Parts: sequence; structure tokens; C-alpha cells
Amino acid sequence: MTEGRFITLEGGEGTGKSTQARALADALGGGGLKITLTREPGGTPGAEIIRELLLSGAEEKWNICTEALLFAAARAEHCSKLIHPALMRGEWVICDRFIDSSRAYQSVNGLLSDAEIMDLHRIGSNNLMPDRTFILDLPEAVASKRVESRDRGDSDRIGGRNSDYHQAVMANFRQFANDEPDRIHLVDASQAAEVITENLLQSLGDLMP
Ligand code: TMP
Repeated sequence: MTEGRFITLEGGEGTGKSTQARALADALGGGGLKITLTREPGGTPGAEIIRELLLSGAEEKWNICTEALLFAAARAEHCSKLIHPALMRGEWVICDRFIDSSRAYQSVNGLLSDAEIMDLHRIGSNNLMPDRTFILDLPEAVASKRVESRDRGDSDRIGGRNSDYHQAVMANFRQFANDEPDRIHLVDASQAAEVITENLLQSLGDLMP
């Protein structure tokens, strides 16, 4: 057993996950907890190299299975070298995206099932699951507007996919929250950033030492 806690933030593109991950780390760290703030894909030198491979270049650079395997490979590095050791030291790990992103994104075209994506997670990362996951949810209209404005910019290989894809991703995330209400909390991301942070902190009450 360990006192460490593993918290993940999930959601579509541009929902403010990274801002909230930082705010949560500051608030919990300020309260005296030891925090490791990290992100996926990435978080270790090797996993950051895989991130670059995954997110740069044209859509056809990777087929969907390769893409899912690369995310799982980056996660295996991240879990074994950073997340698991930090949890064993009793730290709180706050991670911007984790396995639920693979379940939401890599399942969209129907080539890979949720069970297959979880198989990769079992093989690569010993099925490590978060204690709590927050999905930052935006109303459909706001989310697709943000995605559209990103599509006109220099978005990455996956962020640049069309709005049907991103709507399917959000529908997956909402389904996960519905299926696993104890672990996964849906958060209204249209509120002011400070209000969202306060909601997140309150929803961690049951995990506090
Ligand atoms: P980020 O922009 O939030 O850092 O995430 C990078 C992109 O990678 C984003 O479009 C979501 C995508 N992604 C997946 O498709 N599967 C995954 O498992 C993860 C962690 C991210």
C-alpha cells in the first residue's frame, strides 16, 4: 500500500486540461502534499521522443494500430520510470491525459475495441489506473468552435482531425464518466478557471490523507 494518489485530467482539445493540472498541482502542493506534475504522451525523455513521432507529420504517417502501440509504448516508459516510482514514494501524481485518452481517441474508427486498448495497457503498464479522473467537458458548440479555430492553425497530427472525429472522442469520454462514476468525474469546463479548480479540489476530498 502507498499514500500516493494518481489523478488524471482528460477531455477534448482546448478544454483547459493543462491549466487545471497546473492549478491543481499548485493548490495541493501548497497544502503540503508532494506533487509530480506530468503529461502524456511524454513525461520521460524516451516518451517525449515518442510524442514527437506521434504528433508530427501527416495523418497517413501511422496506421491506427501503430498509433495505439506507440501511445502504449510511451505510457509504458512513463509508468515504469516516473509515475509508479513517484506513487511508491507516496507522492501525488497529476497527469495531463492518460489511458482514457487512448480509449477515447484510438477507438474512434472502430478498428480497435476498448478491450484491445486495455490489453495494450496491461502488457505495457501493468494496468495502472488513476484513483480519480476528471473529464473537462465543454458544450458541443463551444468545443467544435475551438476545434475549428485550431484546424485553421498549426494543430498537431491528431488535434487537426475533423470535428466529427473530435465529437466522437467527446462522446466516448462522456460514456466513460457514465460507466465509471466513482473514478471518473465530468466537469463543466465552460466555467471560470478558478471555479473549475475549486470543483476539482472538492471532488478530491475523499482521497485526502
Ligand atoms: P495534448 O495536446 O493534450 O498534449 O495531447 C496530444 C494529442 O494526443 C491530443 O490530440 C490527444 C492525443 N492523444 C491520443 O490520441 N491518445 C492518447 O493516449 C493520448 C495520451 C493523447
